[in-house]
Amino acid sequence: MTVSRDEVLTTTAVPGEEAEEAGLRPRRLADFVGQSELKEHLSIVLGAARLRGQAADHLLFAGPPGLGKTTLAGIVATEMEVGLRITSGPALSRPGDLAAILTNLEEGEVLFVDEIHRLPRTVEEVLYPAMEDFQLDIVLGQGPSARSIRLDLPRFTLVGATTRTGLITGPLRDRFGLVERLDHYPPGDLETIVLRAAGILGVPVTTDGAGEISGRARGTPRIANRLLRRVRDFAEVRGRGVVDGDAARQGLAVFGVDDLGLDKVDRAILEALCRRFGGGPVGLSTLAISVSEPTETVEDVYEPFLIRQGLLMRTPRGRVATPAAWSRLGLTAPQGGTSPPGLFD
Ligand SMILES: Nc1ncnc2c1ncn2[C@@H]1O[C@H](COP(=O)(O)OP(=O)(O)O)[C@@H](O)[C@H]1O
Ligand SMILES: [Mg+2]
Repeated sequence: MTVSRDEVLTTTAVPGEEAEEAGLRPRRLADFVGQSELKEHLSIVLGAARLRGQAADHLLFAGPPGLGKTTLAGIVATEMEVGLRITSGPALSRPGDLAAILTNLEEGEVLFVDEIHRLPRTVEEVLYPAMEDFQLDIVLGQGPSARSIRLDLPRFTLVGATTRTGLITGPLRDRFGLVERLDHYPPGDLETIVLRAAGILGVPVTTDGAGEISGRARGTPRIANRLLRRVRDFAEVRGRGVVDGDAARQGLAVFGVDDLGLDKVDRAILEALCRRFGGGPVGLSTLAISVSEPTETVEDVYEPFLIRQGLLMRTPRGRVATPAAWSRLGLTAPQGGTSPPGLFD
């Protein structure tokens, strides 16, 4: 049996947790917690476009997963009062895939391309004239008789998301009117996010409980929301249903999240680095294989957190465990073994 795409989109029941997650997404810029500089830039750009009655300039959001890139794309559409189309780099494997989406856009709409760094080169080249001149070049026929025609596209706003700006080609990056980096959130912002989410979910939470959760959320709103749901489960089954400090500490311990927010994979990375590779230096891909995670995930998700916690260092020769990593694992660092390579090594 074949099912059309539309049917899949409309009839499939959304799993409970995903529906909850969607309900937590801020819809307006004013509800987006933290990232004040980014919000200021965005409110100016969107405000100006609204005043002129034009589509906003193309926007690129870069940053690790779970910091709010997809949420911001939705906010841009809401604030501009236009429709939102969502696709992703890997989904657009041929130029025709992108052409079909572009020609179906309506005036002013927002096209969100997630993981835009994974667009194939041939597709990216279709995007250049579309972004710059709102034109689409189509080649008809093949061989010597092939000819190319230009189609006018409606004015639209491209919102791109990427985990790392370094992965975007220069020509693509240059065509965005605003490039914003999302940084990890400080604990205070995460606490606000947890309290806001608890309010929406109807979970009773104390400031102590929210503080415990935000302290272990690795600077990431998505993780803060997920930890809140796990602690809520724990509090409902084992406690009084209130997310207080004790419920948070005990619940997170049960789910393998420690006081810094390290989870099983973080600990596996440190274990491999210290026990198997003597503290390093070891190459990223070797490290990733030894914990059975994709290299990209280790580089984008785990490593930045371990570096920020002062547990891991990047050196020209590979990844190295810091003294703090050894003591975290209850091990003694070999004398002089894990210092970063000096200038004359
Ligand atoms: N600034 C924020 N304020 C409140 N909630 C946020 C914020 N940023 C992210 N979130 C929450 O975190 C979740 C993940 O955000 P998302 O936009 O999907 O991240 P990304 O696309 O960068 O991976 C969202 O569902 C939203 O509930
Ligand atoms: Mg996203």
